[in-house]
Amino acid sequence: MKKFSVVIAGGGSTYTPEIILMLLDNLDRLPLRKIKLYDNDEERQNKLAKACEILIKERAKEIEFLATTDPEEAYTDVDFCLAHIRVGKLPMRELDEKIPLKYGVVGQETCGPGGIAYGMRSIAGVLENIDCMEKYSPNCWMLNYSNPASIVAEATRRLRPNSRIINICDMPIGMEHSIAKIAGVPSRKHMDIRYYGLNHFGWYTSIKDKEGNEMLPKIIEHIKEYGFINGEEGMKTDKKDSWFETNLFTKNIIKTDPTTIPSSYLKYYLFSDYVVDHEDKNYTRANEVMDGREKEVFSACAEIEKNGHSKGSPLEVGIHAEFIVDLATALAFNTHERMLLIVENNGAIENFPKDAMVEIPCIVGKDGYEPLSVGKIPTFQKGLMEQQIAVEKLVVEAWIEKSYQKLWQALILSKTVPSATVAKELLDDLIEANKGYWPELN
Ligand code: NAD
Ligand code: G6P
Ligand code: MN
Repeated sequence: MKKFSVVIAGGGSTYTPEIILMLLDNLDRLPLRKIKLYDNDEERQNKLAKACEILIKERAKEIEFLATTDPEEAYTDVDFCLAHIRVGKLPMRELDEKIPLKYGVVGQETCGPGGIAYGMRSIAGVLENIDCMEKYSPNCWMLNYSNPASIVAEATRRLRPNSRIINICDMPIGMEHSIAKIAGVPSRKHMDIRYYGLNHFGWYTSIKDKEGNEMLPKIIEHIKEYGFINGEEGMKTDKKDSWFETNLFTKNIIKTDPTTIPSSYLKYYLFSDYVVDHEDKNYTRANEVMDGREKEVFSACAEIEKNGHSKGSPLEVGIHAEFIVDLATALAFNTHERMLLIVENNGAIENFPKDAMVEIPCIVGKDGYEPLSVGKIPTFQKGLMEQQIAVEKLVVEAWIEKSYQKLWQALILSKTVPSATVAKELLDDLIEANKGYWPELN
């Protein structure tokens, strides 16, 4: 069987070890000959690289390993690039979250002004990686997790329309894990789902078991009571971080349309006042991540490096990485698996613009993806999506044209921002904070 070579772009990411463990766990369906890490921050990547090498040597010593900051070395002879870069890293995420909060506006990594600021930083980094991939391995597929996925997807649609990039989000995996538990089926692979929307902005319209029985009404009843938390057992959990709150809060979102299952991210748009009121303006999710996941992953890696082995290590396979393996396997072996991808609408949602990047089910095979037809969507969802897609398009236009005016319009149009006045104040603050990351606006 053919063996593949993969590069992980953003090698210094906190998600890298769990992705490597997931790859190593799935060698029977996606055989590998080479795993490379690529990052433009050598010091950060080095904190993980040695540990990753040890994990690989212990589990599959025939796989070649390399960590590099040289794009040519990284992108030569690769079949798949798993990209998860964060331009500006977590300290800039902290500003994306905290600056809007100063104005009483939602401060979030991918939603509202924070997502817009992050988008303006991400576009160049993602394009740079695509260009290297195309130069050194023109047949490689880039499976791109880099956020904000909607804006990045629109930018690649506009600026690299023929590139072999597939934009994805792990939210479907997370939500479908919860949904499978609620439905009482063994895993998300035991369900056939229908969903439409934008990234972090969508709705499930059908969840069927493998016999074709609709399970949606039963799941909706559960979510009305508990959100995505798995019943009373879940309510007792000690792990009440901000994700727990978000999952629970879905019980409120679902009331806005009790016939579908909403993405939990809709809370930032539909209940922004609640979100702002309940946020600690001095300690946001970026702080949680820097004090939590980042420290845990780096110290676990330091420990492996020191010991020379991974016995007793807390690092584990992440469900986040499951999607990547499924997608790469579908492309490599023509599996025709159904997956949610962020793709150009092109009529799949009948009453929505053709050139919008939407998140919809696609069938994935050797030559890429084929979107499934969604049909017409209701006025409520359509209205919300039209407003949000306009924001995303304006951000990309602002980046291309270096236009202050268009970026201001994007912020004005965001459902999270109350007025053009606030939008302008926020924009001026964000420009200052993002000097050196954004193009200079005229
Ligand atoms: P992180 O800051 O820990 O790691 C990101 C790495 O990217 C850093 O090591 C950084 O140096 C590197 N980087 C930045 N610019 C680069 C460039 N131009 N080329 C190569 N490397 C570059 O971030 P994280 O919290 O681990 O998240 C990584 C990314 O994955 C983020 O964009 C995050 O939003 C995204 N993510 C997406 C999903 C999804 O559903 N789409 C899920 C989880 C994480
Ligand atoms: C989910 C989303 C990602 C987002 C991540 C943030 O996985 O799909 O797009 O980046 O959550 O998680 P964090 O733990 O970093 O707040
Ligand atoms: Mn996501």
